[in-house]
Amino acid sequence: MRYEDVMRLALERGFYAPSCEIYSDAPAGFWDYGPLGVALRNRFIDLWRRELIRRDDMIEIDGSQIMSKSVFVASGHLESFADPIVSCMKCRLTLRVDRLISEKTGKIIPERMAVEDYDRLLKEHDVRCPRCGGGLGGVSMFNMMFKVRVGAGGEDAYLRPETCQSIFVDFPRLFKVMRGKLPFPVAQFGKSFRNEISPRQSLIRLREFYQAEIEVFFNPKYAIDAQKFEEVRDYRLKLALGEGVEEVSCIDAVERGLIPNRLISYYLALIQQFYEKAGVDMGRFRVRRLGEEEKAFYAETAFDVEVETSLGWIELVACNYRTDYDLKGHSRVSKEDMEVMDGGEKIIPHVFELSMGVDRSIYCIMEHAYHREDGRDVLKLKPALAPIQVGVFPLVNRDELPRKAREIYNSLKKDFQAFYDESGSIGRRYRRQDEIGVPVCVTVDYDTLRDDTVTLRDRDSMKQIRIDIPKLASRLNDLYRGEDALQL
Ligand code: GLY
Repeated sequence: MRYEDVMRLALERGFYAPSCEIYSDAPAGFWDYGPLGVALRNRFIDLWRRELIRRDDMIEIDGSQIMSKSVFVASGHLESFADPIVSCMKCRLTLRVDRLISEKTGKIIPERMAVEDYDRLLKEHDVRCPRCGGGLGGVSMFNMMFKVRVGAGGEDAYLRPETCQSIFVDFPRLFKVMRGKLPFPVAQFGKSFRNEISPRQSLIRLREFYQAEIEVFFNPKYAIDAQKFEEVRDYRLKLALGEGVEEVSCIDAVERGLIPNRLISYYLALIQQFYEKAGVDMGRFRVRRLGEEEKAFYAETAFDVEVETSLGWIELVACNYRTDYDLKGHSRVSKEDMEVMDGGEKIIPHVFELSMGVDRSIYCIMEHAYHREDGRDVLKLKPALAPIQVGVFPLVNRDELPRKAREIYNSLKKDFQAFYDESGSIGRRYRRQDEIGVPVCVTVDYDTLRDDTVTLRDRDSMKQIRIDIPKLASRLNDLYRGEDALQL
């Protein structure tokens, strides 16, 4: 499906919409989740907790969004978290230089090059303002952090540009109170903020966005215990190699030098398995090792988890080997001891992170799930992600059927996110549930009044079975504990 189809669905059915949309001065890059979007996002995070946090015995924290200036002196963001920009000398439009040159030349232009090199490329390709055709000024660097002033004294502080800084500054206390030992994975779901030059494509590039980040602290000498790695040893990662994607087992990827060590290979497997369970089309999924000029300033080695959509390949997870860069920086600036005992010696742990963009993951899952077939629009979400889990309808809106259907709805909604609908034709009611991904619908008809059975209809196959009302809840429980749609 195309971006425009997902946008229409999102706006018309209450998944997400632009923030402050009734005002003309609403800034770009801020979006609100509606009722179905909140439910989908919550289920996505529930799945992340199940498939990563609980599976790997991680701990989770929730840090503040405003952090002190010193944090970003130590992390390097004050100095290095900047994008190259250029302004039109005629209409004053400001743009990201790398994207502008990329659009003009059709080539990938790195985000991190010397300012003079961008200036040279602009001249070489005679790049002009895309809005008015005017000439461009000189390239400069723009820091993307939002500065805030705290309290009446107006102390400088910043909205965090990545959630993981809370994990790094909390590390000494966490390690102590949790009686940690390496490897020590810490997770966090929360908001981050980046003053993007050109926010665009709804949930894809936002200024205020959700991240679900995992920071694994480890000793590079020992990295990972053998038993854990055994779980994924033969699991095949989809690695972008050359022009295509090659499936390489976790062990072969390390032995061929495609991935630096077993710990990184193990966590890449976990994240790939997570997206498989979240319903991403694995034929349009790849893990790509980044080149020197593509990596963030703190990363020694980096992989992007990418998914192909109608907008091209989208980065969903940045997997960065950050070495001891962050803990050393915080130790230097705060004077806090970040060393821990491991293998009989004191070390500053290294970090490997899985930094997931939640909003853009939700967009990609919606686009991959959205199908137009048999004269209907259907969102084939995995049941575990469905915002509404069961629709309940009376076949017709008369006699005893609505009363009986409401009775079933009232009972199911104690355990499931249920939706009751008695308006319009039954076919139309099914279509409305299909479009928002409701995996099953229960219909009460005249037989129900005689034999206490209802029909259960599967969203994907549209097949129906009759089922005893007392068995309904356990059948739905099986569905939501499993991973695939109800196969009737
Ligand atoms: N923590 C890495 C990132 O935000 O991209």
